[in-house]
Amino acid sequence: MNSLDNLVAYFEAAFREEIKTIGQREPQKLYEPVAYALSIGGKRLRPALTLYAASIFTESVISVLPAAMAVEIFHNFTLLHDDIMDRAMLRRGLPTVHRKYSENVAILSGDAMSILAFKYLARTQSARLQELLSLFSVTALEVCEGQQLDMDFESREDVSVEEYLEMIRLKTAVLIAGSLKIGAILADSDENNADLLYEYGINLGLAFQLQDDWLDVYGDPEVFGKMQGGDICSNKKTYLLLKAKEECDAKTMLQLNHWLLLSDFDPVQKIAVVTAIYEKTGVSEATRILMRSYHDRALMAIEKMTIPAERKNTLITIAQEIINRIK
Ligand code: IPE
Ligand code: IPE
Ligand code: MG
Ligand code: MG
Ligand code: MG
Repeated sequence: MNSLDNLVAYFEAAFREEIKTIGQREPQKLYEPVAYALSIGGKRLRPALTLYAASIFTESVISVLPAAMAVEIFHNFTLLHDDIMDRAMLRRGLPTVHRKYSENVAILSGDAMSILAFKYLARTQSARLQELLSLFSVTALEVCEGQQLDMDFESREDVSVEEYLEMIRLKTAVLIAGSLKIGAILADSDENNADLLYEYGINLGLAFQLQDDWLDVYGDPEVFGKMQGGDICSNKKTYLLLKAKEECDAKTMLQLNHWLLLSDFDPVQKIAVVTAIYEKTGVSEATRILMRSYHDRALMAIEKMTIPAERKNTLITIAQEIINRIK
């Protein structure tokens, strides 16, 4: 029951029913795109983490399902708006909501999802609901803050690695960490273990986003389900780009800046030039090294936890799978 794959399957079965109900609501033009976004797959990593975190401290996780759904609906809401902001055409190998329907639809259906997420969270029967709502709303705001920084950085050329790490902590890591802590709170774990799970989640989340940035360049688009080189086209200040700027010679820097400032370009050509600079500066390996260091920090947090060894082992396996993920 407690492997992550089993929990994903358990979540998926319950979530399918909810998606069906949501998709039948009126007006159809608001809810059909919501059902579309929620039903086209995704790894369901965050809700599975909520369920797993709970299962560390309790036998039955059925009461955790509404909170797990809240987390997944919120995550999918961020993707709808993220895809507008990133001008992304593909998500999970299928057209993004703003492309399949329209930008206005993606904005409003996204809004509805962010509210639905709170509605599901409020279904939670727990004496600690107040604490959950507080954690969830702080996390949700932090994601918005991270997304704003991500966009600000597109037009800044002096972003430091430190700033990048803070940006990805906010846009990605806090939701992964929050998903874990929500599960722990619902299973009434002690504060120390809940905080260590959060710390594990932050480090896991940083590794997760580094891998996402890496896959954006080096992933197989058929498997990854997003357009290859999307980050390069929108001048995202990924670790790969920041590191390339650090490592390149003056001539390469001129070439790189030329492409970063060009507003009208052939995407295929820009991706080819920037990827060649990445090759020359060895940033692929540098990214993998940093990712492994966050993976190791995640493991250090687990070590400090006071839970049975076999439950730690699953957390170790999850961390391993995340840095090796291909989608
Ligand atoms: C995508 O998250 C957004 C990031 C934080 C990189 P996932 O890679 O978990 O997306 P799905 O839900 O599995 O498609
Ligand atoms: C994801 O960052 C962060 C959030 C959606 C909050 P990205 O923009 O890298 O995510 P993908 O690559 O589009 O999934
Ligand atoms: Mg994006
Ligand atoms: Mg983005
Ligand atoms: Mg990405």
